[in-house]
Amino acid sequence: MEFFDVIEKRYSVRGYKRDEVEKEKVDKILKAATLAPTGVNYQGFKVFVIDTKKNKEGLKKIYNQDWFVEAPIVLCVVVDKSKTWTRPWDAKNISDIDATIVMDHIILTATDLDLGTCYIAAFKKYEAIKFLNLSEEYEPVLFTPIGYPDADRSYRPRKPIDEIVEYI
Ligand SMILES: Cc1cc2nc3c(=O)[nH]c(=O)nc-3n(C[C@H](O)[C@H](O)[C@H](O)COP(=O)(O)O)c2cc1C
Repeated sequence: MEFFDVIEKRYSVRGYKRDEVEKEKVDKILKAATLAPTGVNYQGFKVFVIDTKKNKEGLKKIYNQDWFVEAPIVLCVVVDKSKTWTRPWDAKNISDIDATIVMDHIILTATDLDLGTCYIAAFKKYEAIKFLNLSEEYEPVLFTPIGYPDADRSYRPRKPIDEIVEYI
C-alpha cells in the first residue's frame, strides 16, 4: 500500500473479528517495532504480545471494554525510564515519546497488513503492571488490540491545516 494510503486508512477500530492473525503478519509488526527510532538509540522499551483468549479476565481489569478483548492479540509497549534518554538541562525524560513512536510503527504496519488497531492510554496502570509482572523500572505506556476489523470508522473530523500550522 502507498504510505499515505496507510495514513488515511488507519482509524480507531472498536470491534474485531475473532479470526487469528497470521504469524507472518505478527512477525512483521514486531520487526517494525524494532526499527522504530528512539532517543540516542537507547531502545529502552519492550513489547508484550498478549494472547486474548488466555488472558480475557486480566485484560478486562486493565481496560474494561468488550471490544478490547475481541481481537486475538493485544500488544503493550512498556518502557524502562532508567534506560531512556533524559534531556540533561531540564530533566525531561523522553520515554513516552519513544514508546509512542514504537506504537505508531506497530499500528501503521498493522494497518498496511489490513489489520485493525486502537491506541489505548486510558487503562488502569497498576492493574497493567500487576498483570504484566513488571519490575519497578518499567512503565506501560500504550496498548492496542490487533485483529481484523469488525467496526466502521466513526466520524472524527480533523482541524484544517491553517488552524494547526504557523509559519514564522
Ligand atoms: C495516545 C492516544 C491514546 C488513546 N487512547 C484511547 C483510549 O484509551 N481508548 C480509546 O477508545 N481510544 C483512544 N485513542 C483513540 C483516539 O480517541 C482516536 O485516535 C481519535 O479520536 C481519532 O480517531 P481515529 O483514530 O479514528 O482517527 C487514543 C489515541 C491516541 C493517539
